[in-house]
Amino acid sequence: MKTLITGIPKAELHLHIEGTLEPAMMLSIGKRNGLALPFPDVETAQKAYDFEDLQSFLDIYYKGASVLLHEQDFYDLTMAYLKKAVSQNVRHTEIFFDPQTHTSRGVAFETVLDGITNALRDGEKTFGISTKLIMCILRHLSEKEGLETLERSLDYRDRIAGIGLDSSETGNPPEKFAELYERARGAGFLTVAHAGEEGHADYIWQALKTLHVRRIDHGVHCMEDDTLVEELVRQQIPLTVCPLSNIKLHVFASMRDHNLKTMLRRGLLVTVNSDDPAYFGGYVNENYLAVQKALRLEPGEIVTLAKNSFRASFLPEEQKKLRLLEMERWISKHNPT
Ligand code: ADE
Ligand code: ZN
Repeated sequence: MKTLITGIPKAELHLHIEGTLEPAMMLSIGKRNGLALPFPDVETAQKAYDFEDLQSFLDIYYKGASVLLHEQDFYDLTMAYLKKAVSQNVRHTEIFFDPQTHTSRGVAFETVLDGITNALRDGEKTFGISTKLIMCILRHLSEKEGLETLERSLDYRDRIAGIGLDSSETGNPPEKFAELYERARGAGFLTVAHAGEEGHADYIWQALKTLHVRRIDHGVHCMEDDTLVEELVRQQIPLTVCPLSNIKLHVFASMRDHNLKTMLRRGLLVTVNSDDPAYFGGYVNENYLAVQKALRLEPGEIVTLAKNSFRASFLPEEQKKLRLLEMERWISKHNPT
């Protein structure tokens, strides 16, 4: 089972680049930039990563991101993630970034974007991994501020594939961003949104019906509403589920209580992802391993999850077929269980 999980070619579709900032890198970049460090040492940082809920995590996540100032910082962060992803047999990754987290501290939009996209370009060339970049709007801020950020991104349509919505979910429903999503779609962006992580099924309905998103990030609360599940299955709307994140943020009491297996068996297009691996205790393979163990997923279910990761991606259909063929070849060669 371990060979299957670690070796099978896969895509990652829910990954915040700021959430890959490992404590050691946070401290070294902070020192390099001559800043007061968010934590004195790695152990203190790790101890602080004991979250009660989404907001208590976000408070620490924004504090950690405050060490990122220069293009090189964003480059190093992104390159380190790509190396890790490649080592876990991730062949394609769709990465979120949060420009407002940085522009609010006086870092230029271009500094963030150039650092990340130069690393994506170099990583694609060096490791053969393919990537797409999704710009997330912080939902705890106003729609007007989000619209200003969207406006900034329009000059970089060639480097940004999609628009997403993240940060504090409760009290910030998708419909708050109806105009922004309409504009984003009008400008040709693909759209996704975090919905149903802590928020309830009605937030997922809003993301579908008001924002018209192509994919739901998390979405685990869909199971409260049978009609919603039927609709998600009928339209095969992908859900980017992040098991370790859900446990660290107490969305489920334990991994054994996670609903991923039930979701799969209902015919939902579920994928497994790492969200913020530096904070939640593991990258994508650790997420597969943890959920497989707790829910006793069968080899066929692991293969379905990996296939879903390509099906749910924003790769062109031709590329999806090639990746799925590569996977079939890997399976027949290794015959893993
Ligand atoms: N930003 C980074 N990780 C997030 C998550 N899991 N939910 C909402 N916003 C986030
Ligand atoms: Zn997320």
